[in-house]
Amino acid sequence: MPCTVIVGAFWGDEGKGKIISYLALKDNIDFCVRTGSVNAAHTVWYEGKKYALHMVPAAFINPKTRLLIAAGANVDVKTFFAEVEQTQVQGRIAIDQSASIIEEKHAAADKASAVNKGIGTTGRGVGPALEERVRRTAKLAKDIPELKNYLTDEVQEVNDGLDIGKKVLLEGTQGFMLSLFLGGGYPYVTGRDTGASAIASEAGVGPTRVDDVLIVYKSFITRVGAGPLPGEITKEEAQKRGWFEVAAGTGRDRRSASFDFDLAKKTAKINGATQGAMTKLDCIFPSCRSVKKYSDLPKEAKEFIKEVEDKTGVPITLIGTGPEAMDIVDRR
Ligand code: IMP
Ligand code: MG
Repeated sequence: MPCTVIVGAFWGDEGKGKIISYLALKDNIDFCVRTGSVNAAHTVWYEGKKYALHMVPAAFINPKTRLLIAAGANVDVKTFFAEVEQTQVQGRIAIDQSASIIEEKHAAADKASAVNKGIGTTGRGVGPALEERVRRTAKLAKDIPELKNYLTDEVQEVNDGLDIGKKVLLEGTQGFMLSLFLGGGYPYVTGRDTGASAIASEAGVGPTRVDDVLIVYKSFITRVGAGPLPGEITKEEAQKRGWFEVAAGTGRDRRSASFDFDLAKKTAKINGATQGAMTKLDCIFPSCRSVKKYSDLPKEAKEFIKEVEDKTGVPITLIGTGPEAMDIVDRR
């Protein structure tokens, strides 16, 4: 605080949406800036309702939080309006005028491309839209008449906010291992850098203005689409262990593996993590469900958290114990 980057440690779907929604309420966040695009879905459970958000920042559950879409983001206009309607955030959400636009033709190109199919793209058109942006032929938010009442200068808003000590969350999407530059699994990666520095860059926040990098781990690892997943177990085994998942965005089966301490250490270092969150602790230790006090966690769960801290060198300050935004052990 006041400026925190939220970055996913693995291949996405670590539960960033849940952590962001908790922080929005608990810390009374002033600005939440979403980066990336519609290939990523952030799940928020609040007051018994489930939201899978592809555009609206996960902090929306705090009615006082200003919601922004970053200058570096890619906007799907239809999805944006559908989610604004669903979350009723008219009046406190805006898109940077220079964010680029995904069109129908981009999703069609994604689906038609044999290479993209091989990678297991989400088919939302993000890669082809980014290609056009790099060619300097993309449409920007300011070129879309329907967005007229939703335009802002996000970069100025956020930097002016930081000048007067406002609290800002920079919402990363996907996971570090899907980074185009740094994930190491090229071509089985997404079309952009998903690391902490890139999240700040997309939002127009300089590195010296970031106070904290909160890396989000899940108690096991999942991946959708193709590409290597060290230590992968079968779907049957994942079901037996109680952690089989289906993708929030595409409905595809998520592949899974056990928590990887070496990978956790590596991604903490490259992202410059100052704090860590561990989500879904209740999936590997069911007796943790909905626990809110650290002292109430079972011994083996505490040992696991301690091992993660010892091996990564990062304090685990937030621990997710259930799907609802407030199912958290907050050790800060
Ligand atoms: P694309 O970014 O849609 O082109 O997909 C490229 C790869 O990244 C595929 O393996 C996708 O499954 C994966 N991917 C993209 N976005 C997400 C996400 O938000 N969570 C998990 N995997 C993702
Ligand atoms: Mg997701």
